[in-house]
Amino acid sequence: MTNFQSFGLAPRVESALTAAGYTTPTPIQAGAIPLIMSGRDVMGLAQTGTGKTLAFAAPILDKLFRNQGPAPHKGARVLVLAPTRELAGQIAASFETYGAGLGLRIAMVCGGAKIGPQIRKLERGVHVLIATPGRLIDLIEQRAVGLKDVEVLVLDEADQMLDLGFIHALRAIAKHVPAKRQTLFFSATMPKLVEGLAAQFLRDPAQVAVAPPSATADKVEQRISFVDQGEKQALLVETIRKPEVKTVLVFTRTKHGADAVVRRLANADIDSVAIHGNKSQSQRERALEAFKGGRVPVLVATDIAARGIHIDGLTHVINFDLPEVPEQYVHRIGRTARAGATGVAISFVSKDERDYLRAIEKLVGHKLAPRPAGESEADDRGSRKPQQQSRRQGLGQGGGQRRAQGHGDRRPQRDGERKAHGNGERAAAGGERSSGTGGHFQRTSGGGKPGGQARRGGPGQGGGNRSRRPERAGA
Ligand SMILES: Nc1ncnc2c1ncn2[C@@H]1O[C@H](COP(=O)(O)OP(=O)(O)OP(=O)(O)O)[C@@H](O)[C@H]1O
Ligand SMILES: [Mg+2]
Repeated sequence: MTNFQSFGLAPRVESALTAAGYTTPTPIQAGAIPLIMSGRDVMGLAQTGTGKTLAFAAPILDKLFRNQGPAPHKGARVLVLAPTRELAGQIAASFETYGAGLGLRIAMVCGGAKIGPQIRKLERGVHVLIATPGRLIDLIEQRAVGLKDVEVLVLDEADQMLDLGFIHALRAIAKHVPAKRQTLFFSATMPKLVEGLAAQFLRDPAQVAVAPPSATADKVEQRISFVDQGEKQALLVETIRKPEVKTVLVFTRTKHGADAVVRRLANADIDSVAIHGNKSQSQRERALEAFKGGRVPVLVATDIAARGIHIDGLTHVINFDLPEVPEQYVHRIGRTARAGATGVAISFVSKDERDYLRAIEKLVGHKLAPRPAGESEADDRGSRKPQQQSRRQGLGQGGGQRRAQGHGDRRPQRDGERKAHGNGERAAAGGERSSGTGGHFQRTSGGGKPGGQARRGGPGQGGGNRSRRPERAGA
């Protein structure tokens, strides 16, 4: 699959994509687009930053454009659910970009913004509704929207949407969507346990898996720094001051931790902003925009920013704390090294985070670092065996075979840092590999731009979550 013409998309859809700068499909697009166009339910798994949004948006836009008709009154023909407001806004902006000039009505609704304007926006109905689950349920309860006309249901970051924090809302929403529909799940990770749950929502799904599930992005260089908890802040300052560190996204486990990092960076004269669930929606948006616009070089975030968010040119991700849920590591470090770019992810690991490190290594299928000199690796035996790629063998569809991921090389670094490249060789879902830029992208001068802007909304969110608890993304 070398260009978008080979899919047989409606010429207007194809030219909208070309006008937006997209010429060569990525492997997940090559694998998923024909299956979605054929009407199948699809579970699409591919690394972070490889164009999953367009993989579902392009065939959806094609379907809507071919079967034109007015948007259903107080309804929608396509429903896309996403875990955070920022991601919902970004997906909406991507639909606007990919579908520019097609005359389709696209709307986004999420918490943290006044409900009145959202009710009015839905009055006339929309073709594509992008929503976070909580606000959508409010709107359904207020009879501002109905879902009986939904033909396609998409879960972006599907494994998170099926996780404890969202599953009840999802079940409630699914009751309103016709059983006869097309359902599309996309993510870079899909834990085995969640896969069973996913099956309850999908009908004879085709699975398109571009790489072993939970593989990290091809071009992210992963480093580990073993450090005492009390030394992390000093190491952060030192790391950020290195000249090669241009823009950096720092992840902390808690909201309180994120605020503390911002304060201490200020003491070191480093400008930063924080984004987490205790910030108002307008603060969240201002912080993200200041960072995306290059006005602030450091964004400190909880896992609220771990999934899906695209920030052009982000050079470094730092895990100030390791995530407790290993999948989040894959998503966090995937905020860099997107769309064929390179990036560096540095994880600070204190003694009491070794178990998290082992869980992450088990998930990604290779060791990230030898343990520091003098420390026993005996405890780590468990982390060597699993090899994630084996767990889904035989399920791959979409015309491509998958190969085992090559293990990263591990060269000792200065300052006790160790690095491993996650650049194993992978077969493309479409049966053909793009070349040159990390195996997923062939870029033309235009280069695809995401519709990456988060939408504006009003204040308010968080609802008094205790800030020392790990933050899980929520609408
Ligand atoms: N065919 C393509 N050619 C060039 N760039 C592309 C192509 N498809 C998508 N992109 C760009 O790649 C970037 C990442 O896309 P996207 O956000 O859809 O990735 P993703 O796979 O959903 O990642 P994540 O798992 O982090 O959500 C965006 O900037 C998008 O514009
Ligand atoms: Mg995405």
